[in-house]
Amino acid sequence: MRAIIYIMTKQKVALYRKYRPENFDQVVGQEHIVRILKNAVLEDKISHAYLFSGPRGTGKTSVARILAKAINCEKRTGHNPCGKCSVCKNIKEGQTMDLLEIDAASNRGIDEIRDLREKVKFAPTDSKFKVFIIDEVHMLTKEAFNALLKTLEEPPEHAIFVLATTEINKVPSTIISRCQRHDFKRIKLTEIVGRLITIAKSENIKIDDESLEMIAEAAEGGLRDALSILDQLSSTGLKSIKASDVEDMLGLTPHKTVYQFLKSILEGEQKKALKIAVKLTKEGSDIVIFTKSLEEFIGKLITAKVTGTDDIEGTKEQIEEIKGLTEKYELLDFTSLADGINWAQTNFKSGVEPGFILTLLAVSGKNKGKDLDNVKVPKPKTEIATNSKPSPVKDKRTNGQWQHALMEIKSKNNTLYAFMRVATPNFTKSELLLTFPYKFHKEKIEETKHKKMVEEIVAKVYGKDYQIKCNLAGNGNGGKGQVDNTNAASILGGELVED
Ligand SMILES: Nc1ncnc2c1ncn2[C@@H]1O[C@H](COP(=O)(O)OP(=O)(O)OP(=O)(O)O)[C@@H](O)[C@H]1O
Ligand SMILES: [Mg+2]
Ligand SMILES: [Zn+2]
Repeated sequence: MRAIIYIMTKQKVALYRKYRPENFDQVVGQEHIVRILKNAVLEDKISHAYLFSGPRGTGKTSVARILAKAINCEKRTGHNPCGKCSVCKNIKEGQTMDLLEIDAASNRGIDEIRDLREKVKFAPTDSKFKVFIIDEVHMLTKEAFNALLKTLEEPPEHAIFVLATTEINKVPSTIISRCQRHDFKRIKLTEIVGRLITIAKSENIKIDDESLEMIAEAAEGGLRDALSILDQLSSTGLKSIKASDVEDMLGLTPHKTVYQFLKSILEGEQKKALKIAVKLTKEGSDIVIFTKSLEEFIGKLITAKVTGTDDIEGTKEQIEEIKGLTEKYELLDFTSLADGINWAQTNFKSGVEPGFILTLLAVSGKNKGKDLDNVKVPKPKTEIATNSKPSPVKDKRTNGQWQHALMEIKSKNNTLYAFMRVATPNFTKSELLLTFPYKFHKEKIEETKHKKMVEEIVAKVYGKDYQIKCNLAGNGNGGKGQVDNTNAASILGGELVED
């Protein structure tokens, strides 16, 4: 069984690994860093210790490997490594003792650093320099840092260190001052889209521009995340990927529905709006969250009406929609609608069936938001879930309080919220078990800092600590299409080398 899975996994390499930049010119963004390193290579002025800081998936490890190749390449002519000589090849395939990558997150202690100091003493075997990449260096213990500092103070001629971290504020200043520091930036949305276009083309993935922009937005400047999302989408077996597929996978509220709903009310088409409200309720959509999206969209309309669309975030199509509506309607139309949305949200809190509130909002019509204040909504006798979705567990903790927790998360981190929304929560005495439809979501939440953030918010909202555990529903593919090999491997225990 294992062997079969292993063969399966061999066929498919994750996109982000397949498309790792192999030389300086292939690095997207980070020009400020690449320029300096190219010059250093050309002028043979290599520092003995570098510190690469910056968000996940922005190129730190990739650039470190390119640097290692460039300084050791046997056939380099310009600033780029040749990519063909045995040194370049061995580095790419991870088959050389002259490039060591150490994960400080799992090798935190003094013993590991002592071991490293032993290795540093030995001269390189195949090349001029021995390069040590220490990932997540901020995780080292105090003693380990001190030991590392000693090495950084007197490195042998043949040793080059590249320390990488996503949390520079946790790296002692004594270490920082010993290194040439480079801060990696979040990669611009347009640059991410550009890279996605190139890769989609070469992989024969059919996907429209709007979808690519949505992926880039969700990735928040990290190219690895953007490529992982594209990878997941393309492995669901869809012939061509549309915006709604991206929304589906990332758990975003279908923007089109939000737009249609507001537009119908503004146009005085109450029937249309009502139809949407009824449909959403029937489908078991999350009305509270849908209303939150209405609020966000109306906020954008108000801003655009007052200051124009320059500062509005959104895809090209969304900006066009906003432009269209602001040209047609007055500020008062928007603020009145905002009042109506506000009214709806107040009523959700008092425990009224959200679907019912939304239908009232739908039929209220333009300029009638204020009038809703006079509508007396009957108070329910028993507590009704503020979440209209049928919950698998009859547990109060997964209803109103859960929505509250989600909103708190949203106020801190929009993407994280998008991932959390699609999770099904289950509480035990001391644990909160989250079940995710997609592997990608689960992995995101499992990242230490995200998990910590969710735990803190949950503790705040529930007034009690819960330990978060994550698992997958089904094959982690959202229940669609064929099983993607990456997932099969992780479920059944096949090997997949990270990075
Ligand atoms: N600047 C970039 N240019 C081109 N591709 C990139 C860039 N940054 C990230 N990628 C893509 O993401 C993958 C992972 O990048 P890399 O390992 O260099 O990130 P990292 O900054 O080291 O992340 P981490 O902090 O998680 O270790 C690469 O293989 C590549 O596909
Ligand atoms: Mg890295
Ligand atoms: Zn080479």
